[in-house]
Amino acid sequence: MIEYRNLRVAILGGGSVGSQVASLLIEHGEELAARVGAGIELVGVAVRDVKAKRDGTIPKHLLTTDAESLILGADIVVELIGGLEPARTYILQALNSGADVVTANKAVLATHGPELFEAAEQVGAQLYYEAAVGGAIPIIRPLRDSLAGDRVKRILGIVNGTTNYILDRMDTWGDDFDEALAEATRLGYAEADPTADIEGYDAAQKAAILASLAFHTIVPLDAVYREGMTSITRELVHSARKAGYVVKLLAICERLTDAQTGVEGVSARVHPALVPLDHPLAAVHGANNAVFVEAEAAGSLMFYGAGAGGVETASAVLGDLVSAARRHVAGGPGVAESTHANLPVLPISRAITRYQITLSVADQPGVLAAIATLFADHGVSVEAVEQSVSAGRDGQADARPTATLVIVTHEASESSLASTVTALAASPVVSSVVSVLRVEGL
Ligand code: NDP
Ligand code: HSE
Repeated sequence: MIEYRNLRVAILGGGSVGSQVASLLIEHGEELAARVGAGIELVGVAVRDVKAKRDGTIPKHLLTTDAESLILGADIVVELIGGLEPARTYILQALNSGADVVTANKAVLATHGPELFEAAEQVGAQLYYEAAVGGAIPIIRPLRDSLAGDRVKRILGIVNGTTNYILDRMDTWGDDFDEALAEATRLGYAEADPTADIEGYDAAQKAAILASLAFHTIVPLDAVYREGMTSITRELVHSARKAGYVVKLLAICERLTDAQTGVEGVSARVHPALVPLDHPLAAVHGANNAVFVEAEAAGSLMFYGAGAGGVETASAVLGDLVSAARRHVAGGPGVAESTHANLPVLPISRAITRYQITLSVADQPGVLAAIATLFADHGVSVEAVEQSVSAGRDGQADARPTATLVIVTHEASESSLASTVTALAASPVVSSVVSVLRVEGL
């Protein structure tokens, strides 16, 4: 057997994930070396402050603030700093020096992915990113390798643990949004500034990564439609359950045929959605993540587990590290990212789905007929209507009785739905459009 020299690994970032990767690498070094066929030597961990208290057991002499020197001598660079800069610059420096790079950084991939993959291809290096979506869950490798011979049609993902935790608490415990968010923050799921979680930015970055990979097409972050979940109330979650649904913040990536042009394209969107109680995604509780993949030949597959957490995410990072090390031992160029399909990325107006629309209306003759006509005028077909009547507005005996209508549509385009909702809001028989939610997974 050929004896291979030790592979030199540099870790950039010694926080929640980096400290766990370093500790596990030290603890399981011999076992990993046996799997790789070469020793793996941790040559340093770059941080901002070498004196800061940190988890795990990184030997003090490995800590440095000189990331650039560390990168220069490494075979494999593990970027766990997060954010755009200096992460992007360090990844480029590492690739340009011929090192393979492992990253968990969804922000830098969703924003600068094409530039980084191009740099890797130029020098025959490889960029690994299993941990960037779904934490510990294997989803990047299954999409890139296991499903490489199939055609992915759609991905429905719960890819943000914080929002799933909040929605699950609202559903299971009856918490209101602020209570549930405070608990998510206390437990360390939410960021100090949870905007990226609750406004869907984090999920949109992951959607861009998943859609690009699944459809062999560059899907830029700014082409991902995004709605946050701050408008979801405890009452809305409660009435969704009564109607047979749970509310989830979903990342949806799909192949679509543009009804107007007949052109095949792809779409990526993030928004709250109603998911039927019998759909596998409805059973994803707490801060867990799950990615439901529909492929032409394979059918439906679900990937489930811990979407975040230092040690859980470190598992995915180490898996990539072992792959990168094996590649070094085997030799040859890295596998380039596949963007051959180059499909057009379609706007949200072309998406097709079903909707649940809740309206407050006057309870008087002709109202239902007027509303049904309005839907028909905009080409939206109604599947079901449920009506509940309240005694009088604001409980006043002399007030006109009002009714709440919950309307579920057949499949319709976003543009038809948008014009229907505009017309409903302007209609004299509608007091208010209480909510409009997409229904997914039927
Ligand atoms: P942390 O904020 O806990 O750690 C970041 C680390 O980077 C710290 O050690 C910090 O140093 C170091 N750092 C920051 N700036 C620099 C710099 N300019 N030069 C050198 N080091 C620097 O982040 P996480 O560990 O939580 O996240 C790391 C990556 O993993 C991110 O991309 C994140 O999105 C991703 N990820 C994280 C998950 C999680 O559950 N935490 C889950 C999935 C992915 P110092 O310690 O001195 O401040
Ligand atoms: N804030 C993210 C979440 C961390 O809640 O899922 C993992 O990317």
